[in-house]
Amino acid sequence: MPLHGVTRLGYVHARVTDLSEAKGHYGNTMGLYPVHETADRVYYKGWDEFDHHSVVLEAGGVGLVKLGFKVTDPSDIEGIEKAAQAFGAVTERMSAGENLEVSDGLRIVSPSDHVIEIYHGMTMRGTEVGTHNPEVFPRHLVGVGAPRIDHALITAEDVKTMDRFFHEVLGFYATERVVTSLDADADYIGTWMTAGNTVHDIAVIGGPNGKLHHFAFQLTDWSEIKKAGDFFAMDDVSVDIGPTQHGITRGETIYFFDPSGNRNEVFSGGYVAYPDRPTVNWTPEQLGKGIFYIQRELNERFTTVLT
Ligand SMILES: [Fe+2]
Repeated sequence: MPLHGVTRLGYVHARVTDLSEAKGHYGNTMGLYPVHETADRVYYKGWDEFDHHSVVLEAGGVGLVKLGFKVTDPSDIEGIEKAAQAFGAVTERMSAGENLEVSDGLRIVSPSDHVIEIYHGMTMRGTEVGTHNPEVFPRHLVGVGAPRIDHALITAEDVKTMDRFFHEVLGFYATERVVTSLDADADYIGTWMTAGNTVHDIAVIGGPNGKLHHFAFQLTDWSEIKKAGDFFAMDDVSVDIGPTQHGITRGETIYFFDPSGNRNEVFSGGYVAYPDRPTVNWTPEQLGKGIFYIQRELNERFTTVLT
């Protein structure tokens, strides 16, 4: 059982330089459902997500505004608040409605200066196929037709402290790490962590504090990854790398950029995680193979372009 009841990454709130270009990308190419729009924000959900939204795009700049993680019960918030304060993190309570259609909860500034919101409720919007004798997918999906968001990768100056923060405060466990050695005092170059049974909900790699490397949409399988690539060709989406295979997580992937330069990923596969599955360790000289299993080397853009 999770320590503090976090179930999953619930929302990614990012900045975009141009809202109408972003709407073309996230709405028309990725096929997310637009659920709400204001003068400077647009809200989306994937077709297989029941809650009101999972992606918020805000006009002005690039990068991450915040990540929302959903807990199962309102009482989980207090435990996380105590754990965050014991860890030395800055916290504040948030009220229902501060985020559209989102309950009250807790805002935490992570040791890497990322804003993390913990909430227990979001207005349920449901899905097109519903829960009563549902079809296996909606008939008229647009473009990639992404079912749901999956995970985010952020950068931090101190990855090991972030690993401890996500474990001690939010109850995550590490499925995979890149470590300088197998000794207890090793430094971490990267950590892939989950709160449930997906192979990762969050990953952290070494880099400047407060930055976004990418956020990812889950697709069903390799053939859907390839088909997403076809839509990227049709829509002239800037592709970073792929389709290819990850060693770390065993996922299948394409990395690409939204029109503002925020990196996205389509991700499929990966294994089922569970808390007593031993953490997989990679050594730095195998990092290229860990990230891009087939190519076995990182491109420079992958390690340097952050938003
Ligand atoms: Fe990823």
